[in-house]
Amino acid sequence: MVSAQMAPRSQLAIVSANDSDVVDLAAVRDARREPQGLPRYSPTTSLDKILRSDLPPSAVQKLDWNEGTIAPPASVSAAMVAHIQANDGAFLKWYPQLSGGEALQQELATYCGVGTENLLITNGSDDALILLCHGMLGAGKSALAPTPTYEHFCVNVLGTGAGLVRFDLDDPFVADPEALAAGIAYHRPSMVYLVSPNNPTGIQWAADEVRALAVRFPDITFVVDEAYHEFAGIDARTGRPITCAPLAMSMKNVVVTRTFSKAFCLASVRCGYVIAHPATLDELRPFYNPKSVNQLAQVAATAALREFASYYQPYIEATHEAREAFVADLESRGIDVRTGGAGNFVCVRVPEGRTAELCKRLEDDHIYVRDISARFHGYVRITIGLEMERVAEALHRALATMSPACC
Ligand SMILES: Cc1ncc(COP(=O)(O)O)c(C=O)c1O
Repeated sequence: MVSAQMAPRSQLAIVSANDSDVVDLAAVRDARREPQGLPRYSPTTSLDKILRSDLPPSAVQKLDWNEGTIAPPASVSAAMVAHIQANDGAFLKWYPQLSGGEALQQELATYCGVGTENLLITNGSDDALILLCHGMLGAGKSALAPTPTYEHFCVNVLGTGAGLVRFDLDDPFVADPEALAAGIAYHRPSMVYLVSPNNPTGIQWAADEVRALAVRFPDITFVVDEAYHEFAGIDARTGRPITCAPLAMSMKNVVVTRTFSKAFCLASVRCGYVIAHPATLDELRPFYNPKSVNQLAQVAATAALREFASYYQPYIEATHEAREAFVADLESRGIDVRTGGAGNFVCVRVPEGRTAELCKRLEDDHIYVRDISARFHGYVRITIGLEMERVAEALHRALATMSPACC
């Protein structure tokens, strides 16, 4: 197959040998094959700096990793403490209940509206993505990901020896299923990775669009990463956040991954899960470690699910409101803020070459945001918390001195 990177534009106007559809030139134009070499993923976290500082957590705004921004409810910590202290710590010497344990499996099935046979609980959703890559990819295979996207997935793909096709959408803040379909038809990957809502652009892939792709390309596995599911837009038909979970129950080539690290404010405990057809889960099981979900994570996640309506739902709604207010505030200040409309984060465009400087300036105000310019040129990403006015002001102050044209 001709690599889009190597092919002159005229060569891209082809009819794929495997497909009768004419490939959309614009769609394949910006796809880039990952160059050979060791996969790189070098995230930086503000946590070490925050822990070293004398400031109380309330004085710091940690908005760099899209974590939840409030503590989990007291009942969650109480359940973890109770587990640690039960029988003078006697449970700690044993391995955890296997596969996340029955209590969490049941609670999660109810929460997701799926059967327990559709669930595989993992050590965070990163663990789920690693499992999918190791179970389904390898040398001679490839994955296609609309970019910019969650970079750690790309590392996992390359780590299996598979190829990676980065597929740049014309407008990264608009999901374009037609362009994507043309890119898939052209590149014929073994797997397509769709993050919905996408980190960092906030775009979403509707279930109907994913179904159409999964029907058209039955040999390709569509992994829909719903790490930010709870912060998705509302599906008018169900009144609930947009999701591909029902599709994943019925179609063997659609898989959904989710996590407790974001809306459930439990990133430190490491718990995620896969929703899929039982036959697809059977394919993954040989690569799955059933004791990978530690008992504290099981206890915490189970307790958290029981508090969804009372504690998390109001937090999620408040975050949606905070995002809208923050975007309006930044726009009114003339700051170039971008979002595809969902997720607990937004992107801010920064004058050429100044992303690191902006992050440093905000850090001086104890606000930590993420410089994502290495994968998304010219942008920083800001997690949405519940107190964003201070962030807007600090951002405005910093940007005003960096570029007169900006503000
Ligand atoms: C899109 C996406 N998927 C997965 C993850 C990893 O989440 P977890 O903490 O469940 O491993 C992240 C974390 O930022 C993410 O942004």
